Amino acid sequence: MTTLVDNPVIAQPPTQSVNGFDVERIREDFPILRQKVRGKPLVYLDSAATSQKPQVVIEAISNYYKAENANIHRGVYYLSELATKAYEDTRLKVKETINANSIKEIVFVRGTTEGINLVASSYGRKNVKESDEIVISAMEHHSNIVPWQMLCEETGAKLRVIPINDEGELMVDEFEKLLNKKTKLVAIVHTSNSLGTINPIKHLVDIAHDRNVPVLVDGAQALPHGKIDVKKLGCDFFVFSSHKVFGPTGVGVLYAKEALLEKMAPYQGGGDMIKSVTFEKTLYNDLPYRFEAGTPNIAGVIGLGKALDYVAGIGYEKIAAYEKELLNYATAALSSIKPLRIIGTAPEKAAVISFVIEGIHPHDVGTILDRDGIAIRTGHHCTQPVMARFNVPATSRASFAFYNTKAEADLLAKGIHNVIKMFRG
Ligand code: ALA
Repeated sequence: MTTLVDNPVIAQPPTQSVNGFDVERIREDFPILRQKVRGKPLVYLDSAATSQKPQVVIEAISNYYKAENANIHRGVYYLSELATKAYEDTRLKVKETINANSIKEIVFVRGTTEGINLVASSYGRKNVKESDEIVISAMEHHSNIVPWQMLCEETGAKLRVIPINDEGELMVDEFEKLLNKKTKLVAIVHTSNSLGTINPIKHLVDIAHDRNVPVLVDGAQALPHGKIDVKKLGCDFFVFSSHKVFGPTGVGVLYAKEALLEKMAPYQGGGDMIKSVTFEKTLYNDLPYRFEAGTPNIAGVIGLGKALDYVAGIGYEKIAAYEKELLNYATAALSSIKPLRIIGTAPEKAAVISFVIEGIHPHDVGTILDRDGIAIRTGHHCTQPVMARFNVPATSRASFAFYNTKAEADLLAKGIHNVIKMFRG
């Protein structure tokens, strides 16, 4: 491990990790990583905001528009059949990737945000009444707070919040105390985007199910870092976004247990979600099409399918092992920088490091690092309650994916040293 000293001259560590993960080979699959920004090689450390895309995904989208473009489920001609097959093949891949029971449980949406809004609207409006309660946690992304607040405003229900400790872990005892007869739903993040904490989802689901409370899991930051099995987790709803798992933007997935989806009202009305329409009555389509009104993001779904193939080709276990090593390495490098404080130190963490440097605003850190070609996110990360909990206005956040290297972690550390030097002399 590289030891950092003030103004270090850092030897480049071997980027090939001990478990044989060939990161240099993998980086060749991502054209964007080859470019220079501001005259320096790009060091992309913002994969929690959006991941980069491998060439196979870019080609799949381009090929759809070049050779397959047609609307789906509607045409009897060759191109429409081709596009429909490619679109539905992705549904099958998603089902297999997350181990759902049936393709009926896989609904394509615009992203995690729309998936949560769909459940809040279709499930929430039907099942949540005045003085009922919805339980979320203090580490939720705004997308898993605001839809529930809107539902509470509409119904008169109350939002209850599981607290987190100083390490950024959920306080499970407090969670148990919050559950009662009024609790109608638990909506919880699997992996925190701003702290990196990986929550014990199966345990939380078991606790909630003991009291017959269904659980929605925001999996946006989970699937990019490891295998998800919705049967093992036992959750009732699971949502994720394509763009965080190396696929295109504008597409995501809502997994919902068939029995729940069957009882939910459609989210939006329009074409393709119906069996028949008269002015007197509309008969809705079967699952999952009932929840996919209008022409969907066909190219995006096809791109997501390729992304899932690509990730499976590398292997979720290998990715998780490599990223753990990368996280440990980067954490050690950043921890050795004296005025730097890491926010989010849970033992179970994804490769996300949020930090603050006393006396230097995160936006200044991000702007100065950018001059070295290093891209990190700064701000509240759409988790203002997390910032309030840790009493900071914002953090700097470096988030890693399997295409990042230890050398990049060193460049980050070196860049932070430069920032501190500029501000403190
Ligand atoms: N939710 C994304 C992030 O954490 C945008 O950056």
